Amino acid sequence: MIGRLNHVAIAVPDLEAAAEQYRSALGANVGAPQDEPDHGVTVIFIELPNTKIELLYPLGDASPIQGFLDKNPAGGIHHICYEVDDILSARDHLIETGARVLGSGEPKIGAHGKPVLFLHPKDFNGCLVELEQV
Ligand code: CO
Repeated sequence: MIGRLNHVAIAVPDLEAAAEQYRSALGANVGAPQDEPDHGVTVIFIELPNTKIELLYPLGDASPIQGFLDKNPAGGIHHICYEVDDILSARDHLIETGARVLGSGEPKIGAHGKPVLFLHPKDFNGCLVELEQV
């Protein structure tokens, strides 16, 4: 059912420093910061030949990233995103297998303008999983 790894998201305590490190030290193709008020984050996408890295930084008072950074002050991997062809049928299948979908259970439009859902990390070996319909 799942397809390609779309991105790995890393929560960072200093967005500019992280972007500069990927640009200078790692020689990566680093995009511009984008505010995503619906998700409470500012993101920077880094294009790699086979996938993307998503740097996440809190935006606003109720950002879901702030709690993560409080527990992980140096930053850390926040989620991984797999591509699916049909997000609603993927969701329904996952619910049948006992997985929990976060939030209302309805897809939201994610940072790439495509429908996304998040799956409970306790159901996936401690890893928050994002599904994105491509
Ligand atoms: Co993501």
